[in-house]
Amino acid sequence: MARTAIVTGGTRGIGEAISLMLKADGVTVAANYGGDDAKAAAFTERTGIAAYKWDVSDPEACAAGVGKVRDELGEVDIVVNNAGITRDSTILKQSYEQWKAVIDTNLGGCFNMVKATFPGMRERRWGRVVNIGSINGQAGQYGQVNYAAAKSGIHGFTKALAQEGAKFGVTVNAIAPGYIDTDMVAAVPDDVLEKIVARIPVGRLGQASEIARGVCFLCAEDAGFITGSTLSINGGQHMY
Ligand code: CAA
Repeated sequence: MARTAIVTGGTRGIGEAISLMLKADGVTVAANYGGDDAKAAAFTERTGIAAYKWDVSDPEACAAGVGKVRDELGEVDIVVNNAGITRDSTILKQSYEQWKAVIDTNLGGCFNMVKATFPGMRERRWGRVVNIGSINGQAGQYGQVNYAAAKSGIHGFTKALAQEGAKFGVTVNAIAPGYIDTDMVAAVPDDVLEKIVARIPVGRLGQASEIARGVCFLCAEDAGFITGSTLSINGGQHMY
């Protein structure tokens, strides 16, 4: 059966890889983005995947964006909550704005997108929600109280919503990526990143496609018995 998915933050980095792999699996994909129109247009040109702009931290924008996708591509069966930002800094230097931006986007975005899509999935008795958490939500990370709190929140959100979706055929799972070769990780200072990579047993950063592989696995038609789980894809850095 043909399915429609929204991937938030779906035009770059891990999100781009997820959008592409879902499309290759026969899913109709809407890639949400929050920033650069020119980059999003280039993404659509390159991939043939429609891009939709809205801010996931804004509940009304999410409702309107999902409505537009529904009108243009059909009912939304799959949501991948991937959009995320970092505002790294130690607690002494972290401002309330840095705290709030990360919580509102990374965790608030999951709530806003689920509010806009879960009722329809429940009604149609089929749905897949995949939330992108993080190794740093599982283990913590120096300089990331905001990010670790939001990502840890995503793991709790996943387990709670999984219980609400289970009897309606809606599965809710999380992926906890480790350090993946994207712009976000490239922003970590070189000397700090070197030490982090030295602690990854596989001996390298992950690839975005290695996270996309996990998302497609969880979104499959025959993945209906997998719910409330967290799939860690981190090169063995944290065995949780
Ligand atoms: N553990 C213990 N101490 C640490 C530390 C660590 N991991 N990292 C830094 N420190 C110490 C330093 O040794 C230094 O100590 P001294 O003052 O005694 O020398 C002190 O903390 C200050 O360190 P910095 O000079 O680095 O401080 P800063 O204010 O310039 O920067 C920081 C702090 C912004 C947190 C910076 O260290 C940093 O960017 N760290 C990387 C954070 C990180 O890993 N972010 C992940 C981004 S990718 C992502 O989030 C994706 C995902 O899901 C995995």
